[in-house]
Amino acid sequence: MTLPVFPETYIDLLPEVRAFLGEELKLYIGGRWVPALSGATFETVDPSTGRVLARVPSAQAEDVDAAVRAARQTFDSGAWHLKLTASERGRLIWRLADLMEAHAPILAQLDALDNGKPVKKAQTVDVPLSADHFRYYAGWTTKIEGATIPVSTPGMFNYTVREPIGVCGLIVPWNYPLLMAAWKIAPALAAGNCIILKPAEQTPLSALYLARLFEEAGFPPGVFNVLTGYGETAGAALVEHPGVDKIGFTGSASVARTIIRNSASTLKRVSLELGGKSPNIIFADADLEQAVVGATWASFGNNGQSCTAGSRLYIERRVFDRVVEGIADEVAKIRVGMGMQAEQPDLGPVVSGDQLNTVMGYIQDGYASGAHSVIGGKRLGGALADGYFIEPTVFVNVQDSLKIAREEIFGPVVCAMPFDDADEVLRRANETPFGLAAGLWTRDLATAHRFAAKLRAGTIWINTWGDTDAASPFGGYKQSGHGREMGKEAIDLYSEVKSVWLRAD
Ligand code: NAI
Ligand code: MG
Repeated sequence: MTLPVFPETYIDLLPEVRAFLGEELKLYIGGRWVPALSGATFETVDPSTGRVLARVPSAQAEDVDAAVRAARQTFDSGAWHLKLTASERGRLIWRLADLMEAHAPILAQLDALDNGKPVKKAQTVDVPLSADHFRYYAGWTTKIEGATIPVSTPGMFNYTVREPIGVCGLIVPWNYPLLMAAWKIAPALAAGNCIILKPAEQTPLSALYLARLFEEAGFPPGVFNVLTGYGETAGAALVEHPGVDKIGFTGSASVARTIIRNSASTLKRVSLELGGKSPNIIFADADLEQAVVGATWASFGNNGQSCTAGSRLYIERRVFDRVVEGIADEVAKIRVGMGMQAEQPDLGPVVSGDQLNTVMGYIQDGYASGAHSVIGGKRLGGALADGYFIEPTVFVNVQDSLKIAREEIFGPVVCAMPFDDADEVLRRANETPFGLAAGLWTRDLATAHRFAAKLRAGTIWINTWGDTDAASPFGGYKQSGHGREMGKEAIDLYSEVKSVWLRAD
């Protein structure tokens, strides 16, 4: 395939990236590279320019079936979880992390091209965090233990073992293409499962490249498979397939509901990491300089395309104007631009034309319902007119009842709202169907602990925002999800417990 012409302002594509984009890209099934059986393909687009980057196979139900058969065969043969020792499995996962680090510049360019994010961010955040994730779970392979249970039946010995679930279909989104895949693949592998990864149709490239690294690392064929394709076809077929034992999903609540419905006939295990409308609360006694910078990046980090975006900003009334002004000053310094341009921006475009329309729709709705923007509010034109660029936008004069204050926008838009006292803001913060994250800025220890206890969310950040670590559990209360990723909890999420009884006298 002929390569697209990239803007002159772009850094040079690495030769490996150039070669990769020029190839006929294939699905990775059972250790082999194959086109979709129907020959169907789709285009993936550079959101900085709107130009086609590459064509990738569009997996259909028959390709899903082939991948499930391959993964099933490998799982049932025990080639991964039984024939290799725990230590050998750990070493392979560690080797994969080494390869990811060695190929970091390539993976970073692929994610920057496909998603639009600044390549420097991809290289310093997305790729190293992904590799760390594999290293953390490489260590787990030798630490997955059962228990001996003091049952009250005379003469009986009872113990538990943790076993893999089997074949896991992992369906991931486009906001952190490589990292969201790593969050699921690493614990699923460590627990001994075989995997079929379905990357988002907007960002399929790094997943295909990752499959090469699995091949190079020497994993048994069929342990890791990649199907690029649309949610409604490839994703839906994975969810419905009786040969898939578990679906791990990150994405929208509406697709999560479809997944729950479509998995009902086979009753497969489902874990869900969904979105939020996370409250970020600034008390007047906080270190306001720190809070201003923290709240700015809680709102606009990754362009607000983050399930934990601090998109409902509650500020104590007596410092409201000061804090909003401070945030507007911070936002004015943010450089928006193409993720691959030599002079690196802070933020790139949103991921797609669809996402641009959705976010601009919310912004229009905000204005129409009486909100004011203190900064931002427009699509960017000029040299950026062909891409999907939106100014980081801070809304004030927002009521909790407005759509922009209730729904996940998943773009660079934050609603700043004043509050008068702690009980009031606690109630307002919890008045949401979501519960992924929440945070507060204060110097008062009692307030910090009280809010940590009373905020109904899976992660609480105090005088910080956005931190995650492979060792610390992450997931949502309420409609933000089922189950916890990361930490020991993710091993539980990807394993079954077996209780064994033995007559011992
Ligand atoms: P989405 O939920 O449609 O896509 C996420 C993944 O699900 C993709 O891999 C997609 O192909 C797959 N999928 C879609 N329909 C499916 C189906 N019927 N069966 C199985 N898999 C399916 O998210 P989308 O449309 O890309 O973004 C829409 C909104 O979702 C965003 O504006 C944001 O609010 C939310 N979202 C939240 C994310 C999070 O991290 N929690 C990530 C991505 C989106
Ligand atoms: Mg969708």
